[in-house]
Amino acid sequence: NQGKLWGGRFASGPSPELEALSRSTHFDWRLTRYDLAGSHAHARALGAAGLLTSDDEAALHAGLDALARRHEAGELHPDPSDEDVHGALERLLLEEVGPELGGRLRAGRSRNDQIATLLRSYLLDHSLVLSRLLLDLVTALAEQARAHLGAVMPGRTHLQHAQPVLLSHHLLAHAWPLLRDVDRLADWRRRTAAEAPYGGGALAGNSLGLDADLVARELGFAHGPTNSIDATSSRDSAAEFAYVCAQAGVDLSRLAEDVILWSTHEFGFVRLHDSWSTGSSIMPQKKNPDIAELARGKAGRVVGNLTGLLTTLKALPLAYNRDLQEDKEPVFDSVDTLEVLLPAVTGLVATLEFDTARMAALAPQGFSLATDVAEWLVREGTPFRVAHELAGACVRRCEELGCGLDELTDEQLAEISPALTPRVREVLTVEGSVASRDGRGGTAPVRVAEQLEELSVAVERA
Ligand code: ARG
Repeated sequence: NQGKLWGGRFASGPSPELEALSRSTHFDWRLTRYDLAGSHAHARALGAAGLLTSDDEAALHAGLDALARRHEAGELHPDPSDEDVHGALERLLLEEVGPELGGRLRAGRSRNDQIATLLRSYLLDHSLVLSRLLLDLVTALAEQARAHLGAVMPGRTHLQHAQPVLLSHHLLAHAWPLLRDVDRLADWRRRTAAEAPYGGGALAGNSLGLDADLVARELGFAHGPTNSIDATSSRDSAAEFAYVCAQAGVDLSRLAEDVILWSTHEFGFVRLHDSWSTGSSIMPQKKNPDIAELARGKAGRVVGNLTGLLTTLKALPLAYNRDLQEDKEPVFDSVDTLEVLLPAVTGLVATLEFDTARMAALAPQGFSLATDVAEWLVREGTPFRVAHELAGACVRRCEELGCGLDELTDEQLAEISPALTPRVREVLTVEGSVASRDGRGGTAPVRVAEQLEELSVAVERA
């Protein structure tokens, strides 16, 4: 059992089949930097507890630094016989500083409190990367919104024409959820950085007088474990992180679906930039929205990562169980997926070319100003129930005549109701319609301009 972290009570080494199953270095090796940082902090705690002389402690720090340098130079590798990153790094440290000194470092810690801490550290760092990438996309959406202030489009519910809205309003409706994802990550960081599991040992805490708060602070956490069982066996922090990633994936997929629809021949709302779209190997004319489709597809993957992790955690007895080793791949995959996806979606959005003339032409179609007629009648004193009926009757008449609401003659309007005087025409334009929706959060240009400012301030603060 050379190179293993256990073995004293075993008469034979692990079978190759067990080793193959058990090994996690192919995915946990990415935690090397964090494992070494944990070991530095732990060496300090051992020194402070009088379990290492200052010379020994210094030699351990030097050995760990040497490993870090070799790692950065790409010269440090796990061995097939290493079970996990912790075992591999202990083996390498022993080679570096000798078995006598190297063998002292493990006192009072377990891979259980180590891995729980390392995973938090890794995710904390990547949450900052993800926040930055999400903010880049929010900024790209805001820039498009600013560049098209005033442009109108058909607003839809049930994918049917509903009421005209500003293109900027619609684009910002994709920005706010992404900004909330950034806020969710910040909120998650506050909880996750509060406590480091280090010092929890295997499950019951340590008996060596180690200062867990010292270790926690060294690693950037507020304090050590409050409950060693909880600290070593809970993974709700990882699950919550996976949820935010899944939510961001879903938010991206909804934006992506709009881009996919908008770029169809039938919609014709946007043209994709050549550098941010793809062609077909057989159809020479094709220009495909692959980035958006991959965003839509990868949303399934990040949702799956959350589902898989929660399923692993469900009904696990306390405290640590080896099942928990399955916590890492899903969150690593969500990190990797979003870190490659977000910059591409940002480029796609930043380079979209909108056909605002076409959007404006389509905005009043499908009788999308019928609500404006009803609300005009309400302002003139008609009860809304009646106004709704009358506006509906206008639509029916238009369908019979094959014309638009604004094309009904004064006589045709008066036939439907004397309340429908020619003045109703003042709301029968798209510009009049959007300008009238000036309540808080509405699509009126003044409100959308305010909204854009509000978003910029929120981005600055995030
Ligand atoms: N590699 C394990 C994990 O990722 C940590 C090792 C714990 N092993 C154990 N036998 N207690 O969770």
